[in-house]
Amino acid sequence: MEKSRSSFTGKIGFVLAAAGSAVGLGNIWRFPYLAAQYGGGIFLLVYLLLAITFGFALMCTEIAIGRKTGQSAINAYGKLNKKFSFIGWFGAVVPAIILPYYSVIGGWVTKYMTVYVKGDVAAAAGDSYFGNFVSNTGPSIGYFLLFLGVTAIIVLLGVEKGIEKVSKFMMPILIALTIFIAIYSMTLPGAMEGVKYYIIPNFDGFTLGKLGKTLLAAMGQLFYSMSLAMGIMITYGSYMKKEVSIEKSVRQIELFDTGIAFLAGLMVIPAVFAFSGGEADVGKGPSLMFVMLPKVFEFMGPVAGRIVGILFFLLVLFAALTSSISLMETVVSIIMDKTGWKRKVTCVVVFLGSVIIGLPSALGFGVLSDIKPLGLDDILTFFDFISNSVIMPIVALLTCIFVGYVLKPKALIEEIEIGGKFKAKTLFTVVIKYIAPVFITLILVSSVLDAFGIMKL
Ligand code: PHE
Repeated sequence: MEKSRSSFTGKIGFVLAAAGSAVGLGNIWRFPYLAAQYGGGIFLLVYLLLAITFGFALMCTEIAIGRKTGQSAINAYGKLNKKFSFIGWFGAVVPAIILPYYSVIGGWVTKYMTVYVKGDVAAAAGDSYFGNFVSNTGPSIGYFLLFLGVTAIIVLLGVEKGIEKVSKFMMPILIALTIFIAIYSMTLPGAMEGVKYYIIPNFDGFTLGKLGKTLLAAMGQLFYSMSLAMGIMITYGSYMKKEVSIEKSVRQIELFDTGIAFLAGLMVIPAVFAFSGGEADVGKGPSLMFVMLPKVFEFMGPVAGRIVGILFFLLVLFAALTSSISLMETVVSIIMDKTGWKRKVTCVVVFLGSVIIGLPSALGFGVLSDIKPLGLDDILTFFDFISNSVIMPIVALLTCIFVGYVLKPKALIEEIEIGGKFKAKTLFTVVIKYIAPVFITLILVSSVLDAFGIMKL
């Protein structure tokens, strides 16, 4: 079924919409805890290197595929080459896995917003506050359903535009507040150790095994944060006008997305050193932001801490919502296209499916905390690992092989050059044809062997 596609109004419209999907919990919640866990400065360095090579090349690829074909992911690969339409299907699985557990974290953000509205500034800063909350069955399920339900209602009513408008206005405030909190965090007593840990790479005791794990984590984070390797940027590209420069837009989105992630790290990691056991506490995982920021807010005093707390979690909630909406919208529109179901029915089905898939993640810190799939810490981390560290690298690898050797980079370079000269085309070609495929294969194989206990890194 061929639908006429509306276009983004001009260049800034595209960049803002893509940035709205890209900026979310990945930047604010996920990036800081990974950076803390994987050696601080080393992770940051590896991430930046990957962003300007892999991230750049892949985002250009996806947007160019979308604009060239005028189709969303599922149909786009098929239109370029019938035999490769399975890549689109493979990528489509990713948002379906991410949405449920994304909503669990969205629920945590919602919970913390209510905590600050109530004014429990000191209580929230307590060491066991977060642990008590997530291990309590009722509230963990309740907030998860609330966040997922709100996302579903927005997608059902088709009022995303309204949310996007509000969020365009909220995004700059979020950035300003993040800068403020980051500066405050850095000036806390003892925080400088954390700043150093985060910014300066320290290679002492760094082994090949650790490098492999750091690379995989950074690569998964890159895909996740930039909404790559799951077809979303292909869909955005299909709405992009021909005269807009893909190269420039990609640079802007990357700068935006990486800038916010970097600031989020500056907000959280110095606090780990100021308030807790420093390096002993960097491995706190998914809970890190929810444990550390309340301590920073408490230090601001009851009134200021409460105001900053409300504002911060409210803004993060909006950033999370624009991302969860884009995740759910993707799943809903694929199902609608393929089954011909009505939007309402599809939304209800996707909502219920996400409840079922998401419940184990929501309960994985309480009644199900003994379940540690693949030896990972909890069920949420398992889903996170499967999507970001297994399926997304596979989709990226297949995309590179397809573009590099079947379609040929030239086809996409021509598409990109419609909107102006493609300055980094050599980098693009080399990354897509050689560096990315070899690299992703190496990292993927070694990490899967490691996860299944066949080879210890
Ligand atoms: N990029 C989003 C984030 O960083 C997550 C996301 C991925 C959203 C894919 C939509 C699609 O939070």
